[in-house]
Amino acid sequence: MGQNPWIRIVSPLPGPKAQAVLAVDRQHVSPSYSRPYPLVAEKAEGMVVTDVDGNSFLDFSAGIASCSTGRCHPRVVKAIQEQSAQLIHLSGTDFYYPQLSALAQKLAAIAPGSSEKRVYFGNSGTEAIEAALKLARYATGRHKFIAFYGSFHGRTLGALSLTASKPVQRRGFGPLLEGVTHVPYPYCYRCPNRPAEGGCHPACLRVIEEQLFKTTLSPDEVAAIVFEPIQGEGGYIVPPPEFFQELKQLSARYGILLIADEVQSGMGRTGKMFAVEHFGIEPDIIAVAKGIASGLPLGAIVARAELMYWPPGSHASTFGGNPVSCAAALETIRLIEEELMQNAAETGRYLLESVRKLMTRCSAIGDVRGLGLMMGIELVKDRASKEKAGAWRDLAVQRCFEKGLLILGCGENTLRLMPPLIVNRAQADVAVEILEDVLSTIPRP
Ligand SMILES: Cc1ncc(COP(=O)(O)O)c(C=O)c1O
Repeated sequence: MGQNPWIRIVSPLPGPKAQAVLAVDRQHVSPSYSRPYPLVAEKAEGMVVTDVDGNSFLDFSAGIASCSTGRCHPRVVKAIQEQSAQLIHLSGTDFYYPQLSALAQKLAAIAPGSSEKRVYFGNSGTEAIEAALKLARYATGRHKFIAFYGSFHGRTLGALSLTASKPVQRRGFGPLLEGVTHVPYPYCYRCPNRPAEGGCHPACLRVIEEQLFKTTLSPDEVAAIVFEPIQGEGGYIVPPPEFFQELKQLSARYGILLIADEVQSGMGRTGKMFAVEHFGIEPDIIAVAKGIASGLPLGAIVARAELMYWPPGSHASTFGGNPVSCAAALETIRLIEEELMQNAAETGRYLLESVRKLMTRCSAIGDVRGLGLMMGIELVKDRASKEKAGAWRDLAVQRCFEKGLLILGCGENTLRLMPPLIVNRAQADVAVEILEDVLSTIPRP
């Protein structure tokens, strides 16, 4: 493998300083976190994360799709420094400051569709989903929801009631919100109904009208259908375009709202500001977080203005939309609009082609899919049977780390590539080289 200026492994992993941190962590930190490998970071810049022992890694995880502008982008750092020297906190629930209003104006302007929009701010993805659920109930006077198997919408109790990604996320935490029904997500690679020639008229959506609404669920009680335009934690699954058109028509037929969870797919990652723009639909409510503020905590919902008439005091959060996160978000959006969204589209296409070529050399890759810089590589024991190679995937993630590439898994057996939106072709080449090396050297499942 050729030399590159980004990766430098100088100690065993984890190194001695990392081991000291891990020992303290093991004793005092909640064991509910699921760390796939022992990366103990000291600093990060651009596409590189450096650990406490001086090892440097090429970052294809972006802090779970959050550091959209790369690590510590100088313009974002400057915005944060200037804002934190001026005003760190005031609470937008009780007072006014220009950064919160300006960000609301900007998000309203960039959200898809021509309708007027209003914005509510929280601190995270799960809070954005909670706000979306409450607003949908308030605006429709209905209380039930439809969500999809495989989805991840967060871990607070309302959002968790929608989340259907792994049993461990729900086990022991019930009872959850009453009135949430899950239906299959359009997972074309594994769809038993997909005709060989395409054009599936999504069978998964037909279930809603032909079965659910005729048996257990009355549509006039359903406030909203909550969906990820690309299913993230569930396996980076991209639905066929007809899914979105049918979803829009179905929701319109019954006066059901559409809530798009763009927490992972939004903010330029797919090569458009919001992933739903690839499919030409305007959701009623969009939830955003992660990439919006380059790693600072911020979540938001952008809703059609006519829906957001809940009265003062009905919903709020002390820290939601704090001035420093808002300043970081405004600079982040400027960078995304100036160049990063285009880079996500172009470098994403290049990366997708490279990984698809890798498929011809590596039979453990069953499927490669994605939009922009949101890409999934599904690993199978055998292409014909499509048997999932979950343990092998976990080993591949670990081996990539040992070789200096930071990636994560998603779904049961998929690798996900979600680098910061500043990634270039040379860095994409290095990532693919390491992937090839790892996938061709670890013993086959
Ligand atoms: C699509 C989606 N929605 C919601 C969330 C929850 O976000 P947070 O972890 O900020 O609460 C996530 C987190 O991974 C996500 O991917």
